[in-house]
Amino acid sequence: MSDQNQKINEFLETMDLNEPAPAEEPARQFYFIKKARMLVAKQEAQLGHPLTFCVTTFGCQMNARDSEKLVGILEQIGYKEEAEEEKADFVIFNTCTVRENANQRVYGRLGQLSRIKKRNPHMLIGLCGCMMQEPEVVEKLKKSYRFVDLIFGTHNIYKFAELIATRLESNRMVIDIWKDTDKIVEDLPSERKYPFKSGVNIMFGCNNFCSYCIVPYVRGRERSRNPKDIIREIEMLVADGVVEVMLLGQNVNSYGKNLDEPMTFAQLLTEIEKIEGLERIRFMTSHPKDLSDELIEVMGRSKKICKHLHLPVQSGSTRILEKMNRRYTKEQYLDLVERIRRAVPDISLTTDIIVGFPGETEEDFLETMDVVKKVRYDSAFTFQYSKRTGTPAAVMEDQVPADVVTDRFNRLLKEVQQISAETCSVYKDTIQEVLVEQQNDHDPHLMTGRMSNNLLVHFPGDLSLIGKIVPVALKECRGFYYIGEITESVQ
Ligand code: 5AD
Ligand code: SF4
Repeated sequence: MSDQNQKINEFLETMDLNEPAPAEEPARQFYFIKKARMLVAKQEAQLGHPLTFCVTTFGCQMNARDSEKLVGILEQIGYKEEAEEEKADFVIFNTCTVRENANQRVYGRLGQLSRIKKRNPHMLIGLCGCMMQEPEVVEKLKKSYRFVDLIFGTHNIYKFAELIATRLESNRMVIDIWKDTDKIVEDLPSERKYPFKSGVNIMFGCNNFCSYCIVPYVRGRERSRNPKDIIREIEMLVADGVVEVMLLGQNVNSYGKNLDEPMTFAQLLTEIEKIEGLERIRFMTSHPKDLSDELIEVMGRSKKICKHLHLPVQSGSTRILEKMNRRYTKEQYLDLVERIRRAVPDISLTTDIIVGFPGETEEDFLETMDVVKKVRYDSAFTFQYSKRTGTPAAVMEDQVPADVVTDRFNRLLKEVQQISAETCSVYKDTIQEVLVEQQNDHDPHLMTGRMSNNLLVHFPGDLSLIGKIVPVALKECRGFYYIGEITESVQ
């Protein structure tokens, strides 16, 4: 039994279900874990088989981390993981709503599930995440998707055990959505997807209000976690075999501003770097307007911070950037890139770009293409603008016609792909340190690992290498990844 499980079981022993639930967290949730365990065991005895779950995650790394928390709680309650959604007794969709097509996918999947639930009436369906923070979505679910059992949002995910217990006892649709919160609950169970790497939330929410973006409305105001809690979590992860952490926040560069004792992100990184046994530090996402010289300096001298920076530009046109409320100009962005490259010469830069923002002209679009050509990103996520109800951009005039957006999108994609194939190839014949992540999906003789700059490399090896950092000679570049061979040491 893992340390975490042993501690949880010892704590659960002390809980008396004949007493009312404690008011304070996380004790209250442990009470409900114990209660739900009992209810699940009872149902298992009635059905004559173990109960299973399947969590499907849409969207970003934040959601992926939240799903690990959901899985941790489900496993504590006694559910076993089932890879195939159709076979699971409890299906959970952790949703994203950043673009409209993410919502459409969820409705489509729900339609399929409703047919399965007709055949298997004791199946439970839970929905959570960003999409549930939109009141119109919840109204639609209440009206047309009555077969859904449990709906909750982004602020109260820590209450999952309590919500499951409520659903198991009540037999009716349970809905619990909070508009916002200033609460951060620590120390609940969580089950990592990978034993050797983990996401670590350092802050929640966002205060930027970019005019196209729904995130501030669904993830609430910015709240930083206490540095002591972050360090303690990473130390525990390292003791449990983790060598790489990804620090997560919507805008990590403004970390610490609202703490009782304010602290900068660069200072936090400096503290995390001191943790012995931790080999690699990544972080996501950086807003260019808040990226400080102090951070550039820390990245320049760090031995553990990976040589990769995701720096969303969104548009290359200063006029559009202003309408987007990004609070930097094209020139300021390019200057920032230059300063970063000077301090960290071999850094890999990636970005997010939106095409077709309201009012975007051909000239504006060409400014974006110009930034792409000047920066030469290692890779870029390109998106067609998607209108999100409630955001300022949704009511802006001059929405760009769909065919114009598609045409610009295709031209941008071609440029981005051409450049990233060229930038990827520069590492050929070098030796790089690679964290071995998994067996190759297509060829069991190959292992797949990630370099500090986030590029993937496949090379002959075996399962014993997983979680280790090894030197790999890069033999052949195949566009976005390498084929290599383990070698003696790094040059
Ligand atoms: N339309 C298209 N793309 C969007 N993004 C955020 N909101 C929208 C929208 N309304 C993109 C941004 C952001 C990434 C996570 O998603 O590029 O950086
Ligand atoms: Fe992540 Fe934003 Fe999507 Fe929520 S809406 S899952 S925060 S990308």
